[in-house]
Amino acid sequence: MVQFVFATKELETQFGHWQNFINENFKPDSSKGDENYKVNFDGLIPTIFDHEGRKFKIDFLSDNLNYNKVKSSVNKEPLAKALGSGQKGFKLLDLSAGLGVDAVFLHQLGFKVTAVERNPLVYMALKIASEHLPEIEFIYSDSLKFLETVTPEQFDVAYFDPMFPEKKKSALPKQEMVFFKNLVGFDEDAVNIVNLATDKKLFKRFVVKRPLSAESFKRPAGSIEGKIIRYDIYGL
Ligand SMILES: C[S@@+](CC[C@H](N)C(=O)[O-])C[C@H]1O[C@@H](n2cnc3c(N)ncnc32)[C@H](O)[C@@H]1O
Repeated sequence: MVQFVFATKELETQFGHWQNFINENFKPDSSKGDENYKVNFDGLIPTIFDHEGRKFKIDFLSDNLNYNKVKSSVNKEPLAKALGSGQKGFKLLDLSAGLGVDAVFLHQLGFKVTAVERNPLVYMALKIASEHLPEIEFIYSDSLKFLETVTPEQFDVAYFDPMFPEKKKSALPKQEMVFFKNLVGFDEDAVNIVNLATDKKLFKRFVVKRPLSAESFKRPAGSIEGKIIRYDIYGL
C-alpha cells in the first residue's frame, strides 16, 4: 500500500494525479519487503518512506553528492571511457534509470539521454525530479518490452546497470541503499536484456556495469575496470 500526504492543497492539485498512477501500477511484492510506503509532498520534490522510516528522494538540483560530478577530468571516468567519451550529441539509452545518477552524469558528458525505469515509485521520483532537468527523458517501462520497439536508428549507444546481489560501495547513504534494494529487488532477469540488446544489434556500443569479481552475462568485446566495478563493452 502507498499512502500519499500533501502538505498543502496546492501541492495536492499539482501532484495528486501520481496517486492514480501508483495505484494502477504499484504491485506490492512482500517477498521484496515492499509492503507499506508513504509519499510525502512537502515541497516540489517528494520524499518516499518505507515502513521502517527509511527514506529516499531524487533531487537533481540540490543533491550535489549524487548529481553534480562535472569536473575537468570527467572524460577519464571509466564509464565515460567505456561509452566512448566526447561523443557529444550521441543518443544514449539507459536501460536501468534507478536513481538517475548515471543518467545525469551521462547527460553532463554530452549524451542525449533517454532512461527507462520499471519500478513505478522510482519512476515517479525520477519524473518529478526531471521537471528541473527536462533534457533527460524518463520512460516508464520494462526495458525488455521497450527494446522490442527500438530500431537501430533511434539510439547510438546503450547502458545497463542492473542491481546485483553482491555488496557494492555506493555514494548513497546506507539507509537509502537498503531502502532502494528492498524496493526494486535484484534484477535477476538482467541476462535477458543483455541477450536481446546484443542479439538484435541495436546499438553501436552497449555497456553493462558489473561488480569487478562477477562473471560477464555474455562474453564482451572488451572491458574497462574501475576500483570495484567493471564495464563490459559489446559491439566494439
Ligand atoms: C542498480 S539500479 C541503477 C542505478 C542507476 N544506474 C543510477 O545511476 O542511479 C537498477 C535500476 O534499474 C531498474 N531496472 C532493472 N532492470 C530493468 C528493466 N528490465 N527495465 C526497466 N528498469 C529496470 C531497477 O528497477 C532499478 O531501479
